[in-house]
Amino acid sequence: MYLHAPAVLVLLIHAAYADASLFGTTSESIARVATRAHRHAVKRSAGLARDLRLSFRGILATDSQPADVSNARVYCVNSPSSGLTGNGTNIAGGNSTTSISHSVSATSVATSSKGSATGSKTASASATATPSATASSPWKILESYHGSSFFLGWDFFTGSDPTNGIVNYIDQQTAQSANLIEINSAGNAVMRVETTPQVQNTRQSIRITTQKTYTGALLIMDSVHMPTGCGTWPAFWSNGPNWPAGGEIDIVEGVNDYTNNQATIHTNPGCSLASSSSSTLGISGTVVGGTNCAAAQTGNQGCGVRAAQTNSFGAAFNKNGGGVYAMQWDDSGIAIYFFPRNQIPSDIAANAPLPDNWGTPLAFWPAAGCNPFNFFNDHSAIFDTTLCGDWAGGVWSGTGVPGQDQSCAALTGASTCEAWVRNNGANFTEAYWEVKSVQIYQTS
Ligand SMILES: *[C@@H]1O[C@H](CO)[C@@H](O)[C@H](O)[C@H]1NC(C)=O
Ligand SMILES: *[C@@H]1O[C@H](CO)[C@@H](O)[C@H](O)[C@H]1NC(C)=O
Ligand SMILES: *[C@@H]1O[C@H](CO)[C@@H](O)[C@H](O)[C@H]1NC(C)=O
Repeated sequence: MYLHAPAVLVLLIHAAYADASLFGTTSESIARVATRAHRHAVKRSAGLARDLRLSFRGILATDSQPADVSNARVYCVNSPSSGLTGNGTNIAGGNSTTSISHSVSATSVATSSKGSATGSKTASASATATPSATASSPWKILESYHGSSFFLGWDFFTGSDPTNGIVNYIDQQTAQSANLIEINSAGNAVMRVETTPQVQNTRQSIRITTQKTYTGALLIMDSVHMPTGCGTWPAFWSNGPNWPAGGEIDIVEGVNDYTNNQATIHTNPGCSLASSSSSTLGISGTVVGGTNCAAAQTGNQGCGVRAAQTNSFGAAFNKNGGGVYAMQWDDSGIAIYFFPRNQIPSDIAANAPLPDNWGTPLAFWPAAGCNPFNFFNDHSAIFDTTLCGDWAGGVWSGTGVPGQDQSCAALTGASTCEAWVRNNGANFTEAYWEVKSVQIYQTS
């Protein structure tokens, strides 16, 4: 099964070179784009590379704009689709016929209350400002990962890091032996990186993908700690098959000392963010990318939204005891909510979520601009922690993003991310995920 991944990756990197011409770039920039490939995900389940993605950053950024380095790369900028979805690499087939549950009565509640013409989450939230205390949740648990059985139902990815990080993703048994995963005394799942003082090349790390897939869902992830610090690049996201045809939803992502989360979607052509205005969208975050979410049409920058909350990512998130991220994918669109530890709605704690009562989301991509069932299907949820690589390494000298007042180059005294990571294992004791639970709900 594992043997599929390396062969597929080689194929796709070649395809990406060829398809870079789609952007009308010069040969020099094609080479730059190709060398900046920063993320492709391989799903090994059933021997299929179902959610391969190959991502690029900085296609539109030029090397002559150092002042913009941080902002140009604050969001995950993904690759041209063609390299991955070209006919030669179309491994998993197109649209799934897997049944989706977005048309049942429970979701029509959500649609009528939120699917307004303006696509505004705020408008819809205020329309339901007087929720019934006795309302029962339309969302039923499809899968729950928590406690001693947390790691059942996830595949451990063991390919080389598609995002060029200096990590060695290890299998479950190796991870257990090396004490890089455990269920701790609090009953939480821990995923660490190797803290050996010095390494020659890579540090061991963990990347896991749910075997369960879903089309339309409420995904709720409760974490008390996430990896942080110079050199780290953690993410919690989901992919569908045939990237970007199946869509990608980046729920939690950032690098180094960042304190504000960034959520991003990447899709096939035809999906856009209905507005770049936070108030029009009814979101608390700020649109930081473009409004065309199509990977192949925009140099793959995707539609990114940066959270306003300064405890939504990294050290500040950890100091506050973490919190809950929720991703709601239904007929109204795709919304992401963040609740700091002391503001988690009681309905979430009671496993009977009522998103209509949650107020303003961090990010929202309304159905009005992007049909959530045409552009997204059959997702798996994924955790990883990479080190350096295209994003964390690329902004090593950058500042100006919340949390990063000083650059990691200045903070560490190391001229490159790689030099820092390889020689300072003791500084990676905070580079761990500690997850209470991941729950996948659907209406039924
Ligand atoms: C891929 O195959 C489909 C039919 O299966 C065809 O319509 C399409 O043009 C092909 N695309 C490329 C790039 O060859
Ligand atoms: C995927 O399915 C949707 C409806 O379910 C359809 O509108 C869309 O054209 C399909 N896309 C592809 C690539 O077949
Ligand atoms: C690295 O770890 C040392 C020892 O704990 C500490 O003094 C230093 O501040 C850390 N550096 C960074 C950049 O975190």
